[in-house]
Amino acid sequence: MKAVILAGGTGSRLMPLTSYINKHMLPVGKHPMIHHGIQSLQKAGIQDILIITNRQSAGMFIQYFGSGHQMKMSLAYRIQEEAAGIADALQLARPFINDGEKFLVLLGDNLFDEDLTPYVEDFQKQAEGAMVLLKQVDDPRRYGVPVFSPSGTILHIEEKPAEPESDLSVTGLYMYSTDVFQHIENISPSSRGELEITDLNNLYAAAGLLTYREISGWWIDAGTFESLREASARYWDKEY
Ligand code: DAU
Repeated sequence: MKAVILAGGTGSRLMPLTSYINKHMLPVGKHPMIHHGIQSLQKAGIQDILIITNRQSAGMFIQYFGSGHQMKMSLAYRIQEEAAGIADALQLARPFINDGEKFLVLLGDNLFDEDLTPYVEDFQKQAEGAMVLLKQVDDPRRYGVPVFSPSGTILHIEEKPAEPESDLSVTGLYMYSTDVFQHIENISPSSRGELEITDLNNLYAAAGLLTYREISGWWIDAGTFESLREASARYWDKEY
């Protein structure tokens, strides 16, 4: 399976560090943050990755990873000219994915401890729709939060709800087929002017086509100082 890693955005919650360096290139343990995501995907059998980032940062990614040759990966790059949302960045992957092909999308600030292979395999067997990974968290208000039907299917996802319906968060790992690119054409910018991944996933949820798995290992969205610090501590323990 191919993967797309989204590594643009503004990193506003990590200012002033992100005024001169892309969030995903900040050190986490011995490596830049995004290096760990790439390794997790590699462990899950993925070798072909498109990294989408912004114009200012692309040079740094290329300097560090090049073609991916040293990691035995194939890396390609595309530029998102403006931080117009996660789903806006995702649509740039259209030429990278063959018609009908399934693929994985990872937010570049998301770090997973566990082996992702079983989830990738499950999605390969799924006939249609999309799949998300959920994780129990202390403060779901920071994330997308699923609302379930009595039978346990996802009815919809609420983005950063003030009063979350559960303590589960939608992590930044999504699996789709190429129908996702048609769906992106059917969503509109949110009140903050971005094409939201949650609006996109809610199209699948409304059609009863959004499946999920709940993960048990640790998961970190390293987009804040507190979580960046936690991620660094975890990788220091792992790498030294
Ligand atoms: O981490 C999980 C959460 O990620 C989910 O629970 C939320 O539903 C989802 O909306 C997202 O929330 P965040 O507030 O953490 O998203 P953020 O703006 O930090 O963007 C996530 C990644 O996407 C980040 O690594 C950069 C990339 N990105 C973001 C934007 C807005 C882009 O590549 N381009 C963009 O325009």
